[in-house]
Amino acid sequence: MEKLVIEGGRPLTGTIRIHGAKNAALPIMAASIMAEGTVKIQNVPNLSDIHVMLDILRALGCEAGHTGDTVTVNTTGVHEFHIPESLMSQMRSSIFLMGPLLSRLGRVELYQPGGCAIGERKIDLHLQGLAAMGAVIEETGNKVVCTAEELRGAEIMLDYPSVGATENIMMAAVMAKGMTTITGAAREPEIQDLQNFLNTMGAKIIGAGTDTITIEGVSELTPCTYRIIPDRIVAGTLMIATAVTRGNVTLEQISPAHLTSAIHVLKRAGVQITIHGDIMNVCALARPKSIERIVTSPYPSFPTDLQSQIMVLFSLADGLSVVKETVFEGRFRHVDELSRMGADIRVDLNSAFIRGVPRLYGATVEATDLRAGAALVIAGLAAQGTTVIEQIHHIDRGYEQIERMLGRLGAAIQRTSPVKTE
Ligand code: EPZ
Repeated sequence: MEKLVIEGGRPLTGTIRIHGAKNAALPIMAASIMAEGTVKIQNVPNLSDIHVMLDILRALGCEAGHTGDTVTVNTTGVHEFHIPESLMSQMRSSIFLMGPLLSRLGRVELYQPGGCAIGERKIDLHLQGLAAMGAVIEETGNKVVCTAEELRGAEIMLDYPSVGATENIMMAAVMAKGMTTITGAAREPEIQDLQNFLNTMGAKIIGAGTDTITIEGVSELTPCTYRIIPDRIVAGTLMIATAVTRGNVTLEQISPAHLTSAIHVLKRAGVQITIHGDIMNVCALARPKSIERIVTSPYPSFPTDLQSQIMVLFSLADGLSVVKETVFEGRFRHVDELSRMGADIRVDLNSAFIRGVPRLYGATVEATDLRAGAALVIAGLAAQGTTVIEQIHHIDRGYEQIERMLGRLGAAIQRTSPVKTE
């Protein structure tokens, strides 16, 4: 298996452009099948999750390719409503195909995506929303079959602002008969991007980015070309890596408005951040300050997807910090690995008590999920000595060639392939 090898102690310096958002690209690629013809999606990063979504679109009958940063999908041949269990298990985001397939073909067969390293990942809110619109749902074991003669507009209240459920219901409502209102909707920027993509194809959606989204059903959609937003979590990860290594980095092509909570926390920790349009400079000259309490919760609060990364900053801060994780029930798998590098962290239920130490030490550690892996990379950049990170396929799901991205900023990081024994 490939590994990342990092020689720590070098400050990150230089300029880097942020690639497109994985969590915008995936639902938008799924939504492309709702229009018959060729859709082009620009600024799509080269990630393993994108490759899996392309494979799923092909399995449904599309012609799909990724050249440069543009994904092209010809949806004319969509005829398959069964999503292979093998592909479902590779990527939970396959769930985004439920709304589009129900809308296009009136049927979808898929499998409970199941839990993962960070939590149970239920889909009950997705199913409740689709049922409210007239879908008939049969669950046999882990297989889920949804059928809908006709999807009808409905008043839907989400008990929790689930990102995926908001997106799936929004997509199913686009060509339903009549008006749909989603109250208690998630407010993430990726949902706004999905709304803008669908409206570019002729949908009539308003309210994405707020907790109430209204969709007026239309009869058909027209294929389009669309450019997705930059990845706010990749940007936040690089901001934290700069702070942890006491570096000075300029990030280009970002959306600062999507990062207000991360900017606020880093400034409270003593990091200097200046913004001009879509350019941000991050500079850290001193040891970070501890922060008594950080709570992850749905956007626009501090994102769960930056929780493991910010924990590395607090591991090196001056004092005690507390991080409370309220979105996923199992998102502390990185704590054991960070402790092996010398961090002083105690977990009690869904809170981590982090006592800052003067330095971390290189070790051989294992990535357990995407963002935990990113946190271990950040820790390796700051640590004294050599860090070897295993199971790095998790990291490749959300960061495009992370070793090249960081190498360009002065990091001593290499990807090693296993020695092929004859
Ligand atoms: C999206 O996942 C993101 N993934 C996640 O990013 C992100 O962490 C998450 O939103 C929260 O921001 C993509 O967009 C592809 P949720 P999603 O539905 O849609 C519970 C990354 O690192 N829930 O908002 O699955 C669920 O169990 C990934 O890029 C239900 O109970 O997140 C969880 O505890 C990780 N029932 C909470 O809600 C449901 O039907 C948040 O889940 C759905 C969700």
